[in-house]
Amino acid sequence: MDAHVIAVINQKGGAGKTTLAMNLAAGLARRGKTVVVDLDPQGSSRHWARMGKEPFPVQVEPLTGDWDREILCVRHPLCRHLVLDCPPSLENPASLQALRVCDVALIPVLPSPVDLWASLKLPQEIEEARKVNPDIKAYLVLNQMEPNSALSAAMQEAVMEFGVPVLNANMRRRAAYRGAALEGTSVYQMGGHGAPAVEELEAIITEVIGL
Ligand SMILES: Nc1ncnc2c1ncn2[C@@H]1O[C@H](COP(=O)(O)OP(=O)(O)O)[C@@H](O)[C@H]1O
Ligand SMILES: [Mg+2]
Repeated sequence: MDAHVIAVINQKGGAGKTTLAMNLAAGLARRGKTVVVDLDPQGSSRHWARMGKEPFPVQVEPLTGDWDREILCVRHPLCRHLVLDCPPSLENPASLQALRVCDVALIPVLPSPVDLWASLKLPQEIEEARKVNPDIKAYLVLNQMEPNSALSAAMQEAVMEFGVPVLNANMRRRAAYRGAALEGTSVYQMGGHGAPAVEELEAIITEVIGL
């Protein structure tokens, strides 16, 4: 059976793509074999996986050259979930290819309209990709949320204009996310310190794929 493919994409650097991709993959790996495909030429998810004292719970593999969904699935047989960590650019053909092959596109974004405006080309590219991949489900994932802070009116307006639904589940700004990156691990491996972040990721997984 084909893997379920989740692309984590945003042309803006620092939005939280790699943070979401790595921690999401760690959560998905508890449900079935999962691989992170590192499409960023900077190799940040591969670097992340090599940093830890313990092996990272998910294999992280680069993918270069020409590829399509079939090649992706043949390379990763028996894989239930593939998480694509995309480069911070839509000029990079790998980003557009990720949209053409994915089941779900998750777009992490900081909760500021300025950050969302920086990604305004993305909805167009999703529409373009739908010509060949009509069933893409795309969602914004708010990242680095502050506790108890409602979205500003300007942000709500920017989200409406963006035209991609926002997940109810989101990620707060947490030391655990930063720590997981620094220590080459995931919040799932961090015990009590990681628990609130794990809850957020579990909510994202439930909302996106219902598992
Ligand atoms: N929810 C969060 N809480 C705290 N730090 C975060 C959070 N999300 C991302 N970061 C930090 O922000 C920086 C950029 O995140 P990263 O995932 O590398 O973004 P991208 O892959 O989109 O460039 C990293 O230092 C990361 O540790
Ligand atoms: Mg990244």
